[in-house]
Amino acid sequence: MGNKKLRIGFIGTGSIAHDHMRAYLRRMEKYNDIEIVAGCDIIPGKADDFFREFSVDNVRTYVSHEDMLDAETLDGVSVCTYNRQHAAPTIAALKHGVNVIVEKPFAVTLEECVEMMRAEKESGKILSIGFQPRFDRNMQQIKKIVDAGELGRVYYIQTGGGRRRGIPAYNGTFLKDETAGVGALGDIGCYSLDMVLNAVGYPTPLTVTGFKGAYFGKDPQTYIPRRKNPEYLARIFTVDDFAGGLIRLEGGIILDFRISWAMNMDTPGDTLILGTKAGLRIPSTNCWNGSVGGPMTVYWECAGQSVETVLPILKDSPADGDLWDRKIGSFVTAIREGGPAPVPSSQIIKNQAIIDGIVRSAELGREVEIHIPEI
Ligand SMILES: NC(=O)c1ccc[n+]([C@@H]2O[C@H](COP(=O)([O-])OP(=O)(O)OC[C@H]3O[C@@H](n4cnc5c(N)ncnc54)[C@H](O)[C@@H]3O)[C@@H](O)[C@H]2O)c1
Repeated sequence: MGNKKLRIGFIGTGSIAHDHMRAYLRRMEKYNDIEIVAGCDIIPGKADDFFREFSVDNVRTYVSHEDMLDAETLDGVSVCTYNRQHAAPTIAALKHGVNVIVEKPFAVTLEECVEMMRAEKESGKILSIGFQPRFDRNMQQIKKIVDAGELGRVYYIQTGGGRRRGIPAYNGTFLKDETAGVGALGDIGCYSLDMVLNAVGYPTPLTVTGFKGAYFGKDPQTYIPRRKNPEYLARIFTVDDFAGGLIRLEGGIILDFRISWAMNMDTPGDTLILGTKAGLRIPSTNCWNGSVGGPMTVYWECAGQSVETVLPILKDSPADGDLWDRKIGSFVTAIREGGPAPVPSSQIIKNQAIIDGIVRSAELGREVEIHIPEI
């Protein structure tokens, strides 16, 4: 690639595109190795407003991602559309030879993710999924502890998170099946799953007994007093606000998972990783966002005595930037270096297979097998 600036585009210029843009702009200021050249949103005028807001000039805008991809020569694209529109633009971009960072969750169904990965394979381009907590040092510490063998053989994991009242109602697109496809399960559940699955090396999920429900989202009271239009939000709510499952993973690990956007409780429990040598407790955050909620504790035996070691929270160096700088920066670096994808589809497909399995199991009312097709 030499010193050529990478040409970056946006598909979807809603809320989260703003975080992508801020990170790209900081990147430009620091390294001057990218340029923002185009963007599209299906709502006419929205992409123009977006670029105007950031005073980004000389950019071409479109309402169709296909038109943008046909007209532009791009090196990378941020796919910042709602969940139901992750697959189509990602596949189109890869087919046009463009590297992609797509927001989390990977998509809605396992089938969509398989199609996205096939397009990735055929294109030889990078497909990375937008899990910024991966770049947090405390998250990375969990994996280091497991990889170093400190816990021995891991056989049981409890994970999940919850919010007392935390349905993302700032934007109706999270509440509707036609745009979001999944509720809390996909939105914040994918973070809980990634926290532990990444730590234990992403074993393949085999079976799942799942459940999901909507206990708060359809009630206007849930949105009072923070939202102006509670009746409307309750009416459009067609996804889950509580879900979970018991998953058997390859290697004999049991994963016990639950997630909630709203509940009458502060937390559904900390994340626990039980191993034959030691156990790890990862405190939950009150408003679950996929991060480590406080100092972690290792429970172990020292010469026959039960002891606990508290691991202080690790602070980031300001030179490393924030999680978004690292998420976008790692994508840009991967394009320059020809890979690998910072958060690879080969891992996140297993995360999505669990979400997909929970939905299927909940609908059937019984345990289901999980089969991830060959890509
Ligand atoms: N990583 C994070 O911390 C984080 C936080 C919030 C949201 N997200 C994810 O980001 C995604 C978007 O969330 P949001 O809050 O920005 O939603 P949003 O509704 O504000 O923005 C989505 C935008 O995509 C546009 N769009 C939809 N389909 C399109 C298409 N085919 N082509 C062009 N534009 C299209 C919509 O018109 C809308 O403007 C979701 O998948 C969500 O899970 C990630």
